[in-house]
Amino acid sequence: MAKLNLGVFFGGKSTEHEISLISAKNIIDAADKNKYNIIPVGIDKNGEFLFYNNQDYILDSHDAKKVHLGYGGLPITFSFGRDKELIGIFDKNLKIKIDVAFPVLHGSFGEDGTIQGLFEMANIPYVGAGVLGSVIGMNKDIAKKLLEKSGVKMAKFLVFDISEKGKIDFSYIISELKCPFFIKPTNSGSSVGVYKIKSESEFREKTNEVFKFCDKIMCEEAIVGKEIECSVLGNDNPAASLPGEVITSHEFYSYDAKYLDENGAQLKIPADLPEEATHKIQETAVKIFKLLNCTGMARVDGFLQENGDYIFSEINTIPGFTPISMYPKLWELNGISQTELVSRLIQLAIDKNKF
Ligand SMILES: Nc1ncnc2c1ncn2[C@@H]1O[C@H](COP(=O)(O)OP(=O)(O)O)[C@@H](O)[C@H]1O
Ligand SMILES: [Mg+2]
Repeated sequence: MAKLNLGVFFGGKSTEHEISLISAKNIIDAADKNKYNIIPVGIDKNGEFLFYNNQDYILDSHDAKKVHLGYGGLPITFSFGRDKELIGIFDKNLKIKIDVAFPVLHGSFGEDGTIQGLFEMANIPYVGAGVLGSVIGMNKDIAKKLLEKSGVKMAKFLVFDISEKGKIDFSYIISELKCPFFIKPTNSGSSVGVYKIKSESEFREKTNEVFKFCDKIMCEEAIVGKEIECSVLGNDNPAASLPGEVITSHEFYSYDAKYLDENGAQLKIPADLPEEATHKIQETAVKIFKLLNCTGMARVDGFLQENGDYIFSEINTIPGFTPISMYPKLWELNGISQTELVSRLIQLAIDKNKF
């Protein structure tokens, strides 16, 4: 079979640029070179698309604090081919076609349906959720509202709009959610802008900060329990992996705990859970994946409480994919190597694009 040109898209404008680079380097290293020609496409922090015709497209990938895009990227524009291909154009004479895309872009402009729209317009297969699933998965408010009548348990929440900034009634929040409670942007990731609020002054200070980069804030009841993540893979009949657990040494799984403090978090793969809890989490993760219109892959995150209740927290449609990330590591427990996982994800993308 002829090799497919696999466009791997990485970097991007979001706060998760660096983690995207590490995920992409891992995916490119793992991809089966007998099946795919890798077309590396970096997106810099200004949103410029760059093609690399050398190996140095991601530098210092072993260090989350130093990792950055390579220097030799050629600015690229796209035109849509007739035959399910996206054509990258560097200058008039230099063109390359992409048969299938793997957006390894976490957060805004990558995980939120925007780049998925580009691939839809070009009619090329792409890994992961479609436009709708991506939009829903990125927006915690919409995702939770869609699940409200599904029987899936979630933390009680309230959402406030930027027009209410400075006027939000703190006593109403604590009467509904108790104190401490969490605040977070409705459409961010990597714990950016997530705070555990213990006083009104802290609430005012943090909401002012978070409203600088988003226009909707979610306040959420604080859940006590094990932090559990479950990988889901598939289209119409998705499968769930064994659950994993995140054990953090910080007050919660904050940005620092995730990326800056080497000892900030420990991943327990798999989580040590009774069989019944494992089944409940897997079943709920698949149900959520389907209800939220996901395809291909997603990581479903939640909490397991002492009384056995599983509380859904959020879904990530382009989960972290570094060599040590939960999403690929959980599949390794099922004997699916990272090379095999990448091939399966690409096949799922092609299957989904059949209409
Ligand atoms: N309602 C909550 N109760 C307890 N911990 C929470 C709650 N919401 C968020 N957290 C903590 O904050 C972290 C980041 O929040 P999350 O909603 O997952 O945002 P992000 O999309 O940025 O990862 C979680 O992993 C968890 O440790
Ligand atoms: Mg999270």
